[in-house]
Amino acid sequence: MGWRWHLPGVEKKRHESETLDGWEEGMKKNILCIGAGYVGGPTMAVIADRCPEYRVQVADINEARIRAWQSGEPPIYEPGLKEVLARSLNRNLFFTTNADQAIEEADIIFVSVNTPTKTFGEGAGLAADLQHWERTARQIKARARSPKIVVEKSTVPVRTAEAMDYILNAGGGVHFEVLSNPEFLAEGTAIRDLMEPDRVLIGGRDTAEGKAAVQSLVEVYAHWVPRERILTMDVWSSELSKLASNAFLAQRISSINALSGLCEITGADVRDVATAVGMDRRIGPHFLNAGVGFGGSCFQKDLLNLVYLCEGHGLHNEAEYWRQVVRMNEHQRHRFVRGMLAHMFNTVVGKRIAIFGFAFKANTGDTRESPTIHICRQLVEERAQVVVHDPQALDNARSDLSDLGDAVIFEPDPYRAAEGAHAIALLTAWNLYAQLDYRRIYERMIQPACLFDGRNQLDAEALFRIGFNVYAIGRTPRTH
Ligand code: UDX
Ligand code: UDX
Repeated sequence: MGWRWHLPGVEKKRHESETLDGWEEGMKKNILCIGAGYVGGPTMAVIADRCPEYRVQVADINEARIRAWQSGEPPIYEPGLKEVLARSLNRNLFFTTNADQAIEEADIIFVSVNTPTKTFGEGAGLAADLQHWERTARQIKARARSPKIVVEKSTVPVRTAEAMDYILNAGGGVHFEVLSNPEFLAEGTAIRDLMEPDRVLIGGRDTAEGKAAVQSLVEVYAHWVPRERILTMDVWSSELSKLASNAFLAQRISSINALSGLCEITGADVRDVATAVGMDRRIGPHFLNAGVGFGGSCFQKDLLNLVYLCEGHGLHNEAEYWRQVVRMNEHQRHRFVRGMLAHMFNTVVGKRIAIFGFAFKANTGDTRESPTIHICRQLVEERAQVVVHDPQALDNARSDLSDLGDAVIFEPDPYRAAEGAHAIALLTAWNLYAQLDYRRIYERMIQPACLFDGRNQLDAEALFRIGFNVYAIGRTPRTH
C-alpha cells in the first residue's frame, strides 16, 4: 500500500483503518479509471506514459475489452495508441475487470463510463442516460476505505458533479472530493490531443479541500502540459465549458453546411467561401469543411443535453437555437440522399451503390452516430443494393446495419465494392480514397457512372475527365 496522495485538510479525514506508512510528501499516486473506452483507455495510457512514477489502473465491466487492452492490441483504432500503450503496459499501467479492488487502492478515480442519450422515459432523445455513471458512483462509495478524489471525465449535464458529490458523501464515512475534468480529445487525433492539449480544464469546489484536490490533479497534468494551459475553475463552469465547446464546434459545421446547398445552386464553391471566411482571424480556419454532417458520440449528444438543460430552465428560445444545429445536421444528410436520387433519374431501385467510408470520420473505426448509417438506411429504403467499404469500420458497420440483411454487402476491397456499381458515395475522408485508381474503377462501373463526394476529398476535375459525373458537396455538379 505504498501509493498515497497527500492533501492538507483531507488527510485528517482518512479512514481510521489506514496506516500512515508511506504517507509523505512526493509519494507516488495510485490512479484508477473506471471505463476503458475511447476516452478512458487513451487518456490513461498517456497519463501512465507521462507519469512513470504513478501506478495507473483501468477497470471495465467488459471482459473482452480488458483482455484486448492487456494483450497490447487496443480494442479501438487510434493512431499512435499502440505505441504509447506498449511503453507502459504492465510497467505502471494495468487493466482489470476487478473495479472493486482497484477502488480500494486508488487515490484518484476517473469516471469515464458511457453517458449516452436516454432512449426511454423522461427526457428520452435529449437527456443523458446517467445509469452507468450513478452505479459507478455507488460502487465507489461502497468500496472506498480511504478518501478519494473522484474525477468526472464523462460528458455529463451541468451540475452532475453536484449529484455525484451528494451520492458519494451521503451518510458520512470517508470523504470524496469531486472534480470535473472534461475530455477534449477527438478520435483519430486522441494521442496528439492528449499529449499537446489546447487546454486542460479542472473544476473543483472553492474550499480548502476542493482546492487541494484540484492542485493534486493539476500536478498530474503538469508532468507534460504547460501550466498556463491548465485552467482551474468552479465545477459548474467546467462542466458547461465542455458542452459549450462541442456546441460551438458543431454549430460551425452546421453553419458551413447551411451554405453548401446555396453554393451548389448558385455556382459558388463552398471550399473557397470557407477559406475566405476562415482567414478572418476572429473566425479561424478550423471546422469549416462542408460535408454530409457531423457524427460521433459527442456532438449530437452534447447539443441535445444543452437543449434539455435550457428547456429545463424555461429557456425555450435558447433551446430552440441549439436544437436547430442538430436539425441542420439531419437535413444535410437527407439533402445528400435526395441529391443522389435526383441525379440518378429519381430511382435507385436495384442499383448497386458503393459507399466509401463508414466511420464517422477518418482515422477511427468508430461508427457511433455516423451520418453513413442514416444514408445507407435511406438508400436501402429506396431499394438500392448498398455495398459498404471502410478500412477500419466494417465490423461496426455490420452490427449497425445487421437488421438490413442482404440489402447491404460489406466489402473489404474498394475496387470490388465499386465493380458493377452505378454510383460511389464517398462519406468518410480516409486518405486511401484519394489514392485509388479511379480510371480502373470507372471502367468497371455501370455507365453513366456517378461519384458523390460527400467530403470534398477528391479531385473533381480529374474524375470528370475520366468520365464520371461528379457531385461534390457545395460545388457545381460536373456532368457529361
Ligand atoms: C464515454 C462517454 O460516452 C462520454 O460522454 C465521455 O465524455 C467519456 O466516456 P467513451 O469512452 O467513448 O465515452 O465511451 P465507451 O467507449 O462506450 O466506453 C465506456 C466504457 O465504460 C465501456 O467500455 C463500458 O464497458 C464501461 N462501463 C460502462 C463500465 O466499466 N461500467 C459501467 O457501469 C458502464
Ligand atoms: C469531438 C470534439 O472535437 C472533441 O473535442 C470532443 O472531446 C469530442 O467530440 P470527435 O467527435 O472525435 O471529437 O471528432 P471531430 O473531429 O470533432 O469530428 C466530429 C464530426 O464532425 C465528424 O463526423 C467530422 O467528419 C465532422 N466534421 C468535422 C465536419 O463535418 N466538418 C469539419 O470541418 C470538421
